Amino acid sequence: MSHRIATGDDREIATYLEIAQYAEARHPDADTEQPPARDLIVVIDFGSQYSLLIARRIRELNVYCEVVPATMPWHEIQRLRPKGFIFSGGPASVYEPDAPMAPAEVYEAGVPILGICYGMQLLAHQLGGAVENSSFREYGHSVLHRAATIADPLLEDLPPTMPVWMSHGDHVTTPPAGFQTLAFTDNSPIAAMANDSGYYGIQFHPEVVHTPNGKQLLENFLFRVCKCEPTWTAANFVEATVAHIREQVGDGHAICALSGGVDSAVAAALVHRAIGDRLTCIFVNNGLLRKDEPERLRETFERNLHMNLIVSESTDRFLERLEGITDPETKRKTIGEEFIWVFEEEAGKLGEVDFLVQGTTYPDVIESLTADNTASAVIKTHHNVGGLPEEMRLELVEPLRYLFKDEVRAVGSELGLPEEIVWRQPFPGPGLAIRILGEVTREGLHTLREADAIVNEEIRNANLTRELWQSFAVLTASRTVGVQGDFRTYGNVIAIRAVTSEDAMTADWARLPYDLLARISSRIANEAPNVNRVVYDITSKPPGTIEWE
Ligand code: XMP
Repeated sequence: MSHRIATGDDREIATYLEIAQYAEARHPDADTEQPPARDLIVVIDFGSQYSLLIARRIRELNVYCEVVPATMPWHEIQRLRPKGFIFSGGPASVYEPDAPMAPAEVYEAGVPILGICYGMQLLAHQLGGAVENSSFREYGHSVLHRAATIADPLLEDLPPTMPVWMSHGDHVTTPPAGFQTLAFTDNSPIAAMANDSGYYGIQFHPEVVHTPNGKQLLENFLFRVCKCEPTWTAANFVEATVAHIREQVGDGHAICALSGGVDSAVAAALVHRAIGDRLTCIFVNNGLLRKDEPERLRETFERNLHMNLIVSESTDRFLERLEGITDPETKRKTIGEEFIWVFEEEAGKLGEVDFLVQGTTYPDVIESLTADNTASAVIKTHHNVGGLPEEMRLELVEPLRYLFKDEVRAVGSELGLPEEIVWRQPFPGPGLAIRILGEVTREGLHTLREADAIVNEEIRNANLTRELWQSFAVLTASRTVGVQGDFRTYGNVIAIRAVTSEDAMTADWARLPYDLLARISSRIANEAPNVNRVVYDITSKPPGTIEWE
């Protein structure tokens, strides 16, 4: 089964998730799985598109934050021992029959609450205030005015008037008893409210960039209201996680499939720091990687980081299996299957292995943790395994399970991984196979590799690598007539793809400078074999996808 994860870089580990399906994921039970002690904020998610963004903003302020679905049982939420709660926005209306509610116990927990948008309306509704449908939906920029007479820690250091971003239909018309109005807009007479217990409601969204003072407001909530310590740093994470891995693995042995991508690399480096030689990394060279990548990987992990690395040179196997296949999904499936076979073979040679290291990251975890899918259900899907031979039952080690991509990069830097790995753009599991339209051949791979190397060398020289989500070449299935030297040629067409994106769900084609495109084009036509035409893909996603297949 192929997993196309919808969250960016982690795609490169798609095949490893397949391995996990074969592994018996004996997840440590929730108590030992808990991240190390630190100040923590819990976002209760009521279905907002911004819930993860809130968590990122909090973590950017060096406070650890987790998102939990509104349906999570209270005892599980409580076990996280949060120093504050944030109620997210959401599409429901508090008066709808099935509107999601906050667990009643949250109001007895004695910790501050910040309700955002629907979260504010919920706070009002559950504590006895009134919420009404507005005559029109307020969407977009608005101006917030602070109530002049009230000083409150949440709004400290904020100007008397400031731009905010709104997106709501309902609004609070009567605050609950004990609350006072902190701020208003033209359309929302109660745009911010507070009581003495540290409960706050705000109708606007502080987490989006369109609320420029939003960061200060969140900072106030974390440090002035919840009294958090800013202890969430890469260094602290590494120290605590290494200790945790040591405890989990004991004197066992672990394996890790390295793809060259940042997630598996950072996961491996962390586990290596914890258990040293008892970690063996397996790198399957499927012959579908970019130019020089296998060598670079070896250089980094074997020679620089001194890890046990097994390189399985499997190009012939993969190319044989791909012969004659032109359908993109069949390519994916074939590559995924072959990968598992090779991996199993290599792992089988190692003798006793107890753990499988995976680069699963927080967006993957959250994605499966939807509102009607509680944490225990998620753990069950990880248990949903079968097929692996009895002798290879592996427990998962997922040290990045709680990290966002930018945090994974920060941890990678903290661990001393080289920039080119830490800042590597996402690369699909099936590799160049889905960038050669039609059948994958050795000649096609050679042409594409050369063209792709030129694209990325030029983009690197222009200092644009980090600004682009992905940049690469595609070998199209077209041939065109050209004139090169004194000859007419009938050659390949290379397409250049460069996109910006936040999470790969949507993407925009990058406005690369013309001079850069000109250089790339002329170099490809001159240096890549049998290419006489270069085109630039100016399709966004949607309607296109990032890859061509
Ligand atoms: P699309 O083409 O769907 O790609 O817009 C979104 C992101 O996913 C990557 N991608 C894949 N990653 N296996 C992977 O591991 C795949 O089969 C696969 N297909 C696409 C793509 O590179 C982009 O980052």
